[in-house]
Amino acid sequence: MKPLQNIITWDEKSLLIHGERVMIWSGEVHPFRLPVPSLWLDVFQKIKALGFNAVSFYVYWALLEGKQGRFSAEGIFDLEPFFQAATETGIYLIARPGPYINAEVAGGGFPGWIQRVNSTLRTSAPEFEAATDNYLSHIYKIIAKAQITNGGPIILLQPDNEFTYSARGFYHPPDPAFMQYVEDKAHQAGIVVPIIGNDAWAAGRFVPGSGKGEWDIYAYDQYPFGFECNDPQGWPTISADTGSSTLTTDLYSSHMRQSPSTPFSILEFQGGGSPPWGGSSYDQCALKTNQEFERVFYKNLLASRIAIFNIYMIFGGTSWGYISYAGGYSSYDYGAAIEEDGRTLVREKYSELKTQAQFIKVSPGYLEATPGNMTAGVYSQNTDVTVTPMTGNGTGSFFVARHTDYSNLNSTNYTLQLPLSSGNVSIPQLGGSLTLNGRDSKIHVADYPIGDIMLRYSTAEIFTWKQFEDKKVLIVYGGSSELHEMAILTLSNPLLVEGTGVKIERFGTTAIMQWKTSSSRSIVQIDDLFVYILDRVSAYDYWVPDLLADKKMVSNSTALQGQASVIINGAYLVRSVSIDKNCLFIKADFNSSSTMEIIGVPKSVSKLVVNDGEINFSTASDGSWVAQIQYTPVEFRIPVLSSLNWKYMDSLPEIQPSYDDSQWPAADHAYTNNTLAPLRTPVSLYGSDYGFHSGVLIFRGHFIASGSESLLNISTMGGSAFASSVFLNNTFLGSWPGDVATSIKASNYKVPKLYPGESYVLTVLVDNNGNDANWLLDSDSMKNPRGIIDYSLSSQTGSVTPLTWKITGNLGGEDYMDQERGPLNEGGLFAERQGYHLPRPPLCKFKVGSPFDGIEKPGVAFYTAPLELDYPSQKYDIPITFNFENNTEVSGKYRAILIVNGFTFGKYISHIGPQTSYPVPEGILNYGGENWIGLVLWSIEPGWAKVPNLTLSVKNPVMTGRKPVEVVNAGCWDRRQLAY
Ligand code: GAL
Repeated sequence: MKPLQNIITWDEKSLLIHGERVMIWSGEVHPFRLPVPSLWLDVFQKIKALGFNAVSFYVYWALLEGKQGRFSAEGIFDLEPFFQAATETGIYLIARPGPYINAEVAGGGFPGWIQRVNSTLRTSAPEFEAATDNYLSHIYKIIAKAQITNGGPIILLQPDNEFTYSARGFYHPPDPAFMQYVEDKAHQAGIVVPIIGNDAWAAGRFVPGSGKGEWDIYAYDQYPFGFECNDPQGWPTISADTGSSTLTTDLYSSHMRQSPSTPFSILEFQGGGSPPWGGSSYDQCALKTNQEFERVFYKNLLASRIAIFNIYMIFGGTSWGYISYAGGYSSYDYGAAIEEDGRTLVREKYSELKTQAQFIKVSPGYLEATPGNMTAGVYSQNTDVTVTPMTGNGTGSFFVARHTDYSNLNSTNYTLQLPLSSGNVSIPQLGGSLTLNGRDSKIHVADYPIGDIMLRYSTAEIFTWKQFEDKKVLIVYGGSSELHEMAILTLSNPLLVEGTGVKIERFGTTAIMQWKTSSSRSIVQIDDLFVYILDRVSAYDYWVPDLLADKKMVSNSTALQGQASVIINGAYLVRSVSIDKNCLFIKADFNSSSTMEIIGVPKSVSKLVVNDGEINFSTASDGSWVAQIQYTPVEFRIPVLSSLNWKYMDSLPEIQPSYDDSQWPAADHAYTNNTLAPLRTPVSLYGSDYGFHSGVLIFRGHFIASGSESLLNISTMGGSAFASSVFLNNTFLGSWPGDVATSIKASNYKVPKLYPGESYVLTVLVDNNGNDANWLLDSDSMKNPRGIIDYSLSSQTGSVTPLTWKITGNLGGEDYMDQERGPLNEGGLFAERQGYHLPRPPLCKFKVGSPFDGIEKPGVAFYTAPLELDYPSQKYDIPITFNFENNTEVSGKYRAILIVNGFTFGKYISHIGPQTSYPVPEGILNYGGENWIGLVLWSIEPGWAKVPNLTLSVKNPVMTGRKPVEVVNAGCWDRRQLAY
């Protein structure tokens, strides 16, 4: 299709922005998983520092339209600050507002009330389309306003997500009328940027030219290692017939068969994993998708000239509140390059990404080269090494080498036979051989221009290069102790100006340099070019910021090389650099006292300001500035949580004889539209039929006993790892503690002797662990209910006692109480309904009692305590984590909900795990004053339940140049008139 505007266009090679070729290197971030808007800039800066130029983001419909017809995107849900932060950083955005997103969120994006829609979801059935209408009209308007055509950062729009595969099989294609409807809505709302799709794999749905619903640009997603992260070192065998064909298929030629007129694009490539409850930890996911994974897999995509490349996730954040679907736990760290608590350098995968993205950024020839098929025995005689060529025409050729068996851990020697413009050559020319160390992949360049100097080839990989006022700087690196060789077309003799161990020879017009990578740097000068030779780990210390003034954000053009920016060696993170008159301003983070070397400072600049303070520097003989940064360790005290002034309240008053539920909604719907229709019970006992979509549901079943009741059969459903507890008056009948495999549980409880004619109440708690997603079309799995699906209270002779039911979830249901924290922050427990989880609850209603002592029988306790913090957060980034001790022998089986300043920030299940640590960002925590910590303790089984230990820890604080974090002030407790 033709572009609807002329700023963002495309051809078969890449996007063009303002007519200029750009590779889009992007990472996924969900603003809703970091509910502190002032931290969005922090995340963008960390992404931009990698050399990325884009971020893609989902919008989670359920948070914006908690009640059908009432769209609201304010406070922490306002996207405007997200757009502004992107613009401020120089990051383009790819908008992915659904309506379906998957994303491990409850309902896969759909609000709970969608369960009541009487038609197949994700089709053009009028009821379903109508249900999406209000959301789409609003969100598209918000997105349209922020498009690049209006001066905003948004360059692409993805309609829906993975609209690919039907429960009825592959040959039952998705409903094109629905895709067309979503796109029409976008266009009606003023979306003019190109439409890019996200097929669940290279299934070829909606390719351009395919008719109804077709996309402008075809893209798909790929997770070659799946989502569980057990055995991080054990890379699975990947074969074409498993569908995970990343490393066995020539991706470029399959792309050319599938969508020859659009750039090769992957809108989600594995950047971590999303394990289930009881599954692996995110640290294991980070290991599974570590720097070696990035080298082998991402460079394989680069070998196919990927031109729109989005990594899912680059920063995962937290599934706070009741955002998560039942298949996932509270953390959404994802094992991503940037950790949930914002740390960057703990995982080497962050630094590895920087080496790749910075390289592409300075290699405009990359998008001009033509990928060939992968070869073994052609460019390298050793068939254990596969080389994929990308041939350029004087603008750079790229030869991507890796092990043929991609999981090979051997160290393999090889030589390269490269067809240079000057003829074929066998490399290394000065003797010896190259090595590929295990799970590695290298991009060897040939005929690669560095401004007006021609690099004939380099086996060492390029990190970056820059044209400065009076010199060029090229930084190359290699793995430790590897032999590398580089050849340059020049008539002058290269000069070793720093370091040792570089062999230099010349043949006619070519100077050849060979060295073994070591941890000390060498610099070779050839004409005005200075080649910095590093090992990979040293390259990680270099930063190549764009100048902030570059609002056009074009990021891989040769023009950029002429810009007066700088290269910085030695900071923990460089966030931004700007020049104003004679002053160089740097915003950076430091984790130790460091020497900061600044290369390429323009002559007109004479002053250095780092994080608002002027700093002295000396000028080295090569003109670089050298400044000493003093790191003063931050002083802080970690509060001991067991000694806080804890207060306790019984949060299950429902089982007391005096409890009055007259204000509770009656459960009286005689029908349901969910997947378990028709009802097996006289009335629906499903939360979503009554507007309750989050957290614990409570049911009260009233009956008059016949006296002969002996057994209660009850089936409850709450999704993977859910729990339920049943009480008869105040007698505990039993619980289902939950396990990962069970989402519906049939339980039988013995009923004690009842008195004929007496009134009794059954109180049933069901943990809605999050609605299911709806990845499979025609499955309507999102409509899988939560609540009681069947019950019978019967006698030995088979007579059944009828019950009348009441139900509650969060107070108000879809008319939820807390507008600031949104529709998915509260569940149906008494303390939550009353709002006692909010800051400054009425302590007069509480008793003294601590979660460290716990309760002695099944039930629900709620604890609250104030916590003072006094941390110097203007100057330091101090990541805080709450840690549960995993010790079920001491604790009993329990579920805990951690609430910080009213934000439900984590769920802990003592006998399932795996999560025990819960990072809570500054901004949710107030680092300079009062905080309120709430803790729900749901004791599941007879005997004591307590939190054996709950601690705070601080991980790797750094001195920071980030903008101050604003505390999200979402309000304190206020008496809720209607609370019951
Ligand atoms: C993709 C999906 C994402 C997310 C991911 C797994 O298929 O598009 O939304 O669910 O899988 O983390």
